[in-house]
Amino acid sequence: MALKQNHLLDIASLSKEEIKEYLNLGLNLKEILYRPIPKVPTLRGKLIIHLFYEPSTRTRFSFDRAAKVLSADTLAFTAKGSSIEKGETLLDTVKNLEAIGADLFIIRHPLAGAPHFIAKHSKVPIVNAGDGTHEHPSQALLDLLTIKEKLGTLSDLKVTIIGDIKHSRVAHSDILAFQKMGSSVYVTGPAPLLPDPKEESYFRLSEKTFKICYNLRKTIKDADVIIALRIQKERHGKALIPSFQEYYEFFGLKPQYLDIIKPGAILMHPGPINWGIELSPELEKYPFQVILDQVENGVAIRMAILLKLLTGEKTYEVTY
Ligand code: NCD
Repeated sequence: MALKQNHLLDIASLSKEEIKEYLNLGLNLKEILYRPIPKVPTLRGKLIIHLFYEPSTRTRFSFDRAAKVLSADTLAFTAKGSSIEKGETLLDTVKNLEAIGADLFIIRHPLAGAPHFIAKHSKVPIVNAGDGTHEHPSQALLDLLTIKEKLGTLSDLKVTIIGDIKHSRVAHSDILAFQKMGSSVYVTGPAPLLPDPKEESYFRLSEKTFKICYNLRKTIKDADVIIALRIQKERHGKALIPSFQEYYEFFGLKPQYLDIIKPGAILMHPGPINWGIELSPELEKYPFQVILDQVENGVAIRMAILLKLLTGEKTYEVTY
């Protein structure tokens, strides 16, 4: 069946139905990862190219793992050592890699909108693996999948996101995704790292589902999901917070908050974590943190993304 949107560029342009399709497909495909031989022939002969212009561990490796479980071939492009150093543009690089046989590109780029620009010109599906401070849709989808698994629902939840909301593409995708699924999002952090008043209308999808708060304790008190974020210092341009110690003091999550956190709530972090800044290292041992479950679900959701964009499938027929 033909697809309405043959790219995954952002959460903003996805409907609730489309989000649900990715999640159902991800849940369906996850089982393959636990087989004695976690490999199916579904994408045999397809070539997936990683175009990463920024560092990545989780996102790149889990897309690669997802591709290989589905039997696709992968090639990784790294700006260093490529014709970029000779002045080739992103668009020319993409056109040449298409001529080499790419069936899908996974793009991470420091410029917001780079994957959208490429999608306008490319013949094959584009997946945004993080574009500057804009969006990181596959991260939001894996966060939703993890919450659905842990809490059984994605609606009527209170989700609290702490930290560098302004510069975090994960926060931007999450804020939109949770509201689209029927939950409310509360964001908190140092004032210079919170969205500007003029940006609020972009994030607020309905009157009551998005709130900016200044008191950490109040914001985490009755949250079902708490998400801590890394400070995106590389994107600030100038010092926006006095020091990491001060950030930890006021916005770092510590065991002392366990008394006020709702029983059954879960703690998430997209990684990479700076222990002792966003989270106390002591929190690692508490089972309410589901950070590695997020990473595991990242592989399943990325299998769903590749399968849906390359074949149009919305369900997966089990093949051994
Ligand atoms: C994030 C990213 O690159 O946007 N990491 C990830 O993909 N899980 C978050 C970050 O860099 O802080």
